[in-house]
Amino acid sequence: MNSGNVLSTSYGKEDKIRPNVNDLLHFYKTKITSDPYLLTYNLLVFSLLPSELFGRLLYFCTMLNLRQLFLLNNAQTSPAPRLLEIERAEGIFLYDPKGKAYMDLVSGFAVSNIGHRHPRVIKAIKDQVDRYMHVTVYGEFVQAPQVLFAEKLISVLPDNLNSVYFVNSGAEATEGAIKLAKRFTGRSRIISCYNAYHGSTNGALSVMGNEYYKQAYRPLLPDVHFMHFNQPEDLNLIDSDTACVILETIQGEAGIRVPGRAYLQALRQRCDETGALLILDEIQTGFGRTGKLFAFEHFGIVPDILLLAKGIGGGMPIGAFIANRTVMDSFKENPVLGHITTFGGHPVSCAAGLATLEAILDENMIDGIGKKEALFRDLLNHPSVREVRGMGLMLGIQLSTFEQVQSVSRYCATKGIIVDWFLNDDTTLHISPPLTITEKDIREACKIFIEAVEKAE
Ligand SMILES: Cc1ncc(COP(=O)(O)O)c(C=O)c1O
Repeated sequence: MNSGNVLSTSYGKEDKIRPNVNDLLHFYKTKITSDPYLLTYNLLVFSLLPSELFGRLLYFCTMLNLRQLFLLNNAQTSPAPRLLEIERAEGIFLYDPKGKAYMDLVSGFAVSNIGHRHPRVIKAIKDQVDRYMHVTVYGEFVQAPQVLFAEKLISVLPDNLNSVYFVNSGAEATEGAIKLAKRFTGRSRIISCYNAYHGSTNGALSVMGNEYYKQAYRPLLPDVHFMHFNQPEDLNLIDSDTACVILETIQGEAGIRVPGRAYLQALRQRCDETGALLILDEIQTGFGRTGKLFAFEHFGIVPDILLLAKGIGGGMPIGAFIANRTVMDSFKENPVLGHITTFGGHPVSCAAGLATLEAILDENMIDGIGKKEALFRDLLNHPSVREVRGMGLMLGIQLSTFEQVQSVSRYCATKGIIVDWFLNDDTTLHISPPLTITEKDIREACKIFIEAVEKAE
């Protein structure tokens, strides 16, 4: 049933919109009666209304708030979304419509590395919007924001990574990189890691290392094989038929797993021996998250193709895969247009990206990360915290059960702290705050976190 007319007016301060009767009936039939949260909410609205306001009751009955409309009209990805309504965001805080502040310890899943609405990003976006937004498909016109952002990225990367292909997202960066590796090597074999996450599109899903999320979509890409992350003995799966090995420099959705330096160096060597391209996914780890601009810098290796997204846009959607020009040039001919994207490298996102990178560098955001990590580790030292894993401000807090994880996350939210869990590890909580978080914020957050852990015991 099309309920588009429900949203025909934009929502105002009251965030109440009057739907038509058919939409309302449909909503009540399909959603409210089957959803305990909504049922309780609506019963409360009815029971709390004073009797003299009975005349308004009918009016209330035909009103849906934004949460209800969200459940009614927006595609759902789980039976239990968080339903936290955000009115605005600033720095490390999100605010709900009542003005309650939530400290964002997840950065929108490692996106808001420089905090929400950084002034330099806002200015760059406004300046660019005043000039032009989308003008053509990627790769045809010369657009200053793309050129300047690519130039800046190349200036902070090792010499071999000198050609940038901008796309829309992390998943598209994964897709583009896999295609590029197949094109350049003429091979089809792909090696990925168990528990890896590289995105949710078909190709990216094919290299995801968790069968639970993939089984419903088979057949996926053929000739994809999996090795155990950080296990040198599995490196012999990489052979001279292998087009590429794709892995996260530090595994994120696996619950934050940091590999050994010797392992990554052996991986680099094996790729060199066999001619397989090494794709490092730095979509979560990039742009300062781990205490270096890129996590591979900790391990003394350089990839053949680097994947970036999330934090690089300062809150705007953008991704990139970056390789050597000789590799990237395989997209140019036979056939031409090796990868096509309409909105990839959107000028507004590129302007935001350049401002983000400049802010990280000019404001020395990376400098204090080691101290902030140490403070988190110190304050989270508790008998119920089994392990704190990670590097810099990419931390996984290992508890014992999923119930504990849920309970801690819920309690933290009631106290205004956002933490989250992982796709491929349900006993660990995710902490990746904006790099700008202060010592005072860390102390406050950890105090609540430990309170939550003790309540969950
Ligand atoms: C390591 C990694 N790669 C790829 C992706 C996919 O990025 P996107 O959601 O922008 O497609 C994610 C997203 O969480 C990620 O964490």
